[in-house]
Amino acid sequence: MTVRLYRATVLDTPRDPFLHGADALRVEEDAGLVVADGQILARGRYDQVRAEHPQAPVEDLRGGLLLPGLVDTHVHYPQVRAIGSLGMPLLQWLEECALPEEARLADHSYAAEVAVEFLSGLVRAGTTTALVFGSHFSAAVDVLLEQAERSGLRITAGQVLSDRRLRPELHTDPETAVQEGRQLLSRWHGRGRLRYAITPRFSVSASDALLQACKALLGEADGLLLTSHLNENPEEIDAVAELFPGARDYLDTYDRHGLLGTRAVLAHDVHPTDRELARMAELGTAVAHCPTSNAALGSGLFPLRRHVEHGVPVALGCDVGAGSGFGLLKEGLQAAFVQQLRPDGYRLHPAHLLFLATAAGARALGLADRVGVLDAGFDLDAVWVRPESGSVLHTGLRHARDGIDALAKTFVLGAPADVAAVWVGGDRVR
Ligand code: GUN
Ligand code: ZN
Repeated sequence: MTVRLYRATVLDTPRDPFLHGADALRVEEDAGLVVADGQILARGRYDQVRAEHPQAPVEDLRGGLLLPGLVDTHVHYPQVRAIGSLGMPLLQWLEECALPEEARLADHSYAAEVAVEFLSGLVRAGTTTALVFGSHFSAAVDVLLEQAERSGLRITAGQVLSDRRLRPELHTDPETAVQEGRQLLSRWHGRGRLRYAITPRFSVSASDALLQACKALLGEADGLLLTSHLNENPEEIDAVAELFPGARDYLDTYDRHGLLGTRAVLAHDVHPTDRELARMAELGTAVAHCPTSNAALGSGLFPLRRHVEHGVPVALGCDVGAGSGFGLLKEGLQAAFVQQLRPDGYRLHPAHLLFLATAAGARALGLADRVGVLDAGFDLDAVWVRPESGSVLHTGLRHARDGIDALAKTFVLGAPADVAAVWVGGDRVR
């Protein structure tokens, strides 16, 4: 067993700052992580750790910040090339920007190129784990997961399912959905760092029969995830109410098919009812909060406090292509901005932002015992933020008052260009 030491200023959130306040942030200026076989065996002050392992090679990461790998709980693979369309609400944006691009993934070589661009976008931003909306085309999902395996990232993804209201080439039917889903998940779920997620696009584009097919797929293997969209935009919510007159609300369109539980992640939830929040808390279903997407599509100001006070787990998603890029640091910053605009909002501390971008994501994806913090017993999934000399963030970090100030500056100024190295399970992936 080869032991390696990582020497760095390490920041992480082993506790939930929404419960424990800013003290939940742990800052260790000169920490040593003892790593073997991709796992952190011990952590302590560097000089102590060094004394215990005098022969071990050292990865010297001083001069930047070592954070847990970022966890993205909502991002669309086929939308990389659709990033950047501003000024449209959700349904118009889908029709004019997202869906025409998604239809192009019917072409295998096009899909293969996009898969590489997508995974490169994630890792360059310091994202080590992601829950990914795949493609409507099963071959395009295959190529994504092939490339994901090569990339070394922890990817959970599935075929996106719809049987109405999009465009005919993106539609399936319940039987085909089950058949293709079975093949995909038997090939990929649980293979290395990959898992499969059953992915009805949203209730606007999924009939009851298709949602029932999703339930059948969920029973095909242990540990499958389910992901979809919820309460993003008032027009969308009205459409769902019309399409499902018998449902109590939008959440119920999924719930009454038995699709929800601790393994479900629903994106957005900008306009929830109290009943929906109480039910999600009861089910342990998480919400992927996508701040730049909500701002870009004008979806609304996410009611974070209502989620937290109901006990609904919340984490961050970049929601490319409605979101403005892969950077979860930017999502954290935008979350902080938005909360200040709400009468019931929070003044988010850097501890909240780091938690939302790391440990909260790990919890939402059922990986909280493996990733999200840099502690003994966890896998070494980490990102080294080390800005180029002369950049504004470099100046900011050099003059930071303390670790908290350095973290705040990282969220305000940090971008993919500042990500100097990324590890997943101890493997350097960037
Ligand atoms: N709702 C259904 N599909 C989508 C999508 O691709 N992006 C967003 N933001 N919302 C959706
Ligand atoms: Zn989305």
